[in-house]
Amino acid sequence: MRTLTASRLNVLYDEFLDTVRQFIIRHKITEGEYQQILGFVAELGQSGEAPLLMDVFLGVTVDDLTYEHLNRLGGTRSNLVGPFYLEGAPLRPRPYRLGRDNEPGDTLYLSGSVRDAKTGAPIASALLDVWQTAGNGQYDHIDPDQPDFNMRGKFVADGEGRFEIRTVVPEAYQIPVNGPTGRMLAALDKPAWRPKHIHVKLSGDGYVPLTTQLYFEDDPWLDKDIVAGAPKPELTTRLEKHDRPDEIAEKDVDRPFYTARYDFRLVPAS
Ligand code: DHB
Ligand code: FE
Repeated sequence: MRTLTASRLNVLYDEFLDTVRQFIIRHKITEGEYQQILGFVAELGQSGEAPLLMDVFLGVTVDDLTYEHLNRLGGTRSNLVGPFYLEGAPLRPRPYRLGRDNEPGDTLYLSGSVRDAKTGAPIASALLDVWQTAGNGQYDHIDPDQPDFNMRGKFVADGEGRFEIRTVVPEAYQIPVNGPTGRMLAALDKPAWRPKHIHVKLSGDGYVPLTTQLYFEDDPWLDKDIVAGAPKPELTTRLEKHDRPDEIAEKDVDRPFYTARYDFRLVPAS
């Protein structure tokens, strides 16, 4: 992936300034408004929310532009990494699960496979690095009630590229509302919610790594995501509820549970 070199910066710099100047002129931005914007930018920097706010407004466009070609080659559609990925999630032992023994929320078995985008052949031992909110809609590193890396983990697909992970159904997520990002969204009268989603980074020997997110049908926030354009229909799967006593007994759970499936496709590196 291309990153910003000095020569590229030189190409972008003049045009960026020109674009912003034209914008200022077109909208007759005043000195008073300019001072307000400077104050906001300073506060945004200090709050640590700059990546959050930038991602909300620009992340999807950049992600689509960078990775669309992989989708055209048959690969699973990419989706933005978002501001809440943490390096170093633990490699989980089998049987795979996320969350504590009595993790609050609805138990979800997420299963599926990882396959070659060209041939459909399974990718044995593909690696899935998964992160999501808990059942309370909170990411673990922000929620004082969850242990570190509670809802994060690495999982290795089996010899046929298959995986099954026991987790909980994530909850719709409200991005932090007490900082400058939340204040701006409130001023814009935009609800600061994301539909429930599960993040996955996938990799396999000889394949282009993929970062994406899964969404769930019938989520009322799907078409009102504050990260507009992030929920793609092709990344939306279905939560299937299982409440028959025989199904519950078979899964060794004590109440109704959900399943969801997704088959990922990775593009060969060459
Ligand atoms: C954003 C993305 C997420 O996945 C999330 O949970 C919160 C915010 C974002 O793009 O800003
Ligand atoms: Fe997220």
